[in-house]
Amino acid sequence: QLVPVILCGGSGTRLWPRSRASKPKPFLPLVGDKTLFEATLARCPASAGFAPPIVVTGAPHLGYVEAQSGDVPGSTIVVEPCARSTAAAIALAALRLPGDAVMLVCPSDHHIGDPEAFVRAAHTAAELAQEGWLVSFGIEATTPETGFGYIKRGEPINSHGFRTAQFVEKPDLRRAQAFLAEGIYSWNGGIFAFRVSDFLGELGTHRPAILQQVREAVESGTADGRQFHPEREAFAKAPSESVDYAVMENTQRAAMVPADMAWSDIGNWPALHAARERNEAGNCARGEVELVDCRNVLVDSDGPRVSVIGLEGVYVVVDGDDIMITTAEGAQKVGKLSGAVNQ
Ligand code: GDD
Ligand code: MG
Repeated sequence: QLVPVILCGGSGTRLWPRSRASKPKPFLPLVGDKTLFEATLARCPASAGFAPPIVVTGAPHLGYVEAQSGDVPGSTIVVEPCARSTAAAIALAALRLPGDAVMLVCPSDHHIGDPEAFVRAAHTAAELAQEGWLVSFGIEATTPETGFGYIKRGEPINSHGFRTAQFVEKPDLRRAQAFLAEGIYSWNGGIFAFRVSDFLGELGTHRPAILQQVREAVESGTADGRQFHPEREAFAKAPSESVDYAVMENTQRAAMVPADMAWSDIGNWPALHAARERNEAGNCARGEVELVDCRNVLVDSDGPRVSVIGLEGVYVVVDGDDIMITTAEGAQKVGKLSGAVNQ
């Protein structure tokens, strides 16, 4: 049994003004027609050997999840009473599953351009998880990005997987540059395969308080149709820490499966531009847009007509009353704009 555990949290202010608290990134059709959340579900079909998914999400996103998860038979939704980060979110799903099930933990706000490569990597990772490894998907590191985890490749385990010699979550720029120069580090794609019993065992060893609080919350929780509601007070007391810091940096049983699947976490407008289809000039436009003598320009308007002449490497986004215009460099600071901060 390979059970997709789909995590829907955070709002993604770096794609403001399109993504905002009232309509967060996973629930927007940012690449193609499907929303990122719908595409995440579609990547894990029964026909490719996946069990029905468990979606773990917060009450504020429940309406979107219900509306966008269709009628996948047997799928369930765990509704967090408050956000306690990913270690607790994954533990919620784990405690609802049999100990020998293998979970495939999937963020719901990424784009994967090659879903078949994803399925292959998922099954390879699941095999290693059956043997007791806590498996990350490794993505080829191409820039010294500080928002990712870094995985140092160790000894091969089989023809597809490697031991993780070291897992470093969100290093500073200097360390990220050193890792990149060494050439044996991958980015952590944020997708994991864990056997339930191993994950809970490692969480209990390294972060017993998280396990204890989540266990209490599940034991006193209530089921309501396909929704499960953990008990609020116990869950609120769980320390808030991501699975990367809580488990992956500490476990001795970490492994990595390289995954070459055109992955992007669509962390900013230039990344979205790269994931979307572009014309020969590298432009991509959504909405009523006229581009003249432009190169590598992205325009995305939900209403007003936008006309641009003679610009290169510019991103223009119109959402309701908000207009945001930036360059590739400026796009790194979008999340700090007052519009994005005070939404
Ligand atoms: N249900 C739930 N509850 N989901 C959550 C919560 C929570 O409290 N917090 C975060 N999530 C979801 C997010 O929506 C996202 O889909 C996923 O869990 C990962 O959380 P992020 O907040 O996006 O993590 P990150 O991007 O900083 O870092 C992670 O992903 C990187 C790759 O994109 C780490 O795993 C890094 O090591 C990794 O490189
Ligand atoms: Mg992320």
